[in-house]
Amino acid sequence: RPRALSGIQPTAGSFHLGNYLGAVRQYVALQETHDAFYMVVDLHAITVPQDPADLRANTRLAVAQLLAAGLDPQRCTLFVQSHVPEHAQLGWVMNCITGFGEASRMTQFKDKSAKQGADRTTVGLFTYPVLQVADILLYQADAVPVGEDQRQHIELTRDLAERFNGRFGHTFTVPSPHIVKETAKIYDLQDPTVKMSKSASTPKGLVNLLDEPKVTAKKVRSAVTDTGSEIVFDPAGKPGVSNLLTIFATLTGTPVADLENRYAGKGYGALKTDLADVMVDFVTPFKERTQAYLEDPETLDSVLAAGAEKARAVAAETLAAAYDRIGFLPAK
Ligand code: TYM
Repeated sequence: RPRALSGIQPTAGSFHLGNYLGAVRQYVALQETHDAFYMVVDLHAITVPQDPADLRANTRLAVAQLLAAGLDPQRCTLFVQSHVPEHAQLGWVMNCITGFGEASRMTQFKDKSAKQGADRTTVGLFTYPVLQVADILLYQADAVPVGEDQRQHIELTRDLAERFNGRFGHTFTVPSPHIVKETAKIYDLQDPTVKMSKSASTPKGLVNLLDEPKVTAKKVRSAVTDTGSEIVFDPAGKPGVSNLLTIFATLTGTPVADLENRYAGKGYGALKTDLADVMVDFVTPFKERTQAYLEDPETLDSVLAAGAEKARAVAAETLAAAYDRIGFLPAK
């Protein structure tokens, strides 16, 4: 079986619809075809300030949501990044083969640091993509399921894998991004020209999976649509309607063309009302399942303990090979 690896940050509150459609759904699908490793990236989370108690709670919440979304610990390895020390260790090695200019060109860093200001930006945020490289290479991943916004980080991973292999001999699998075109970028419901995200979206444009279903329905019903009234998939001309069609099609497994036919001549209101129902049917059981996992910390802990053990076995082997190639003296 090919390997898959991905990571998601433990954010406050809950995952949003973009995380789910762009990434988590793909994690669930790849369990069936890949030897899949998924982790909650708490080391990445501390590149911006975190309250310790919140970080712990949000890490558990992220694990509960991944299970609620359909990750099955019998079919994938689910773990927390900081439980596997090899991430930080290989991260350092990768820092030492990354160019300063190369890291400076990462657009997510440029965006985030511009927003925060230079005084508040940490060196950790700067090297964030390099740690992500280590995450992926440690597992010899073939496929990395992510949304479009992570493409540049996967490109960096490929470059560094090839560089290391070229310098020291073949050590790492060169991974490919697994980006599903239709859902690679889900947009804000109030501003369908920006991607849905915790930092960029307005509260009304951001669908949090653990919001009260009523709140979610309201956000969908008040989504910004475009001028005109025709329901056609046209991302350039009609970004608002197209985003809603993508969400509708993906959550129900209905081709977009069928939806265009179904709503021909019916207007935006009908589409939004029905999509609100679809969303409620999706988030209601998701919220219940998440809650059930949160109320069962023993199960969560044992899932994570088993996951960390399986992950460490793979990561330790890769790190040992890399250390040897580099010329580190083996500890006797
Ligand atoms: P994070 O936690 O920001 O996001 C998790 C995943 O959600 C995707 N995503 C979206 N997809 C479609 N539309 C959107 N609006 C949208 N917003 C977010 C992201 O592309 C991502 O796949 N750097 C990563 C975490 C990471 C990682 C890794 C990923 C750390 N190590 C190793 C892959 C492999 C991140 O911050 O994701």
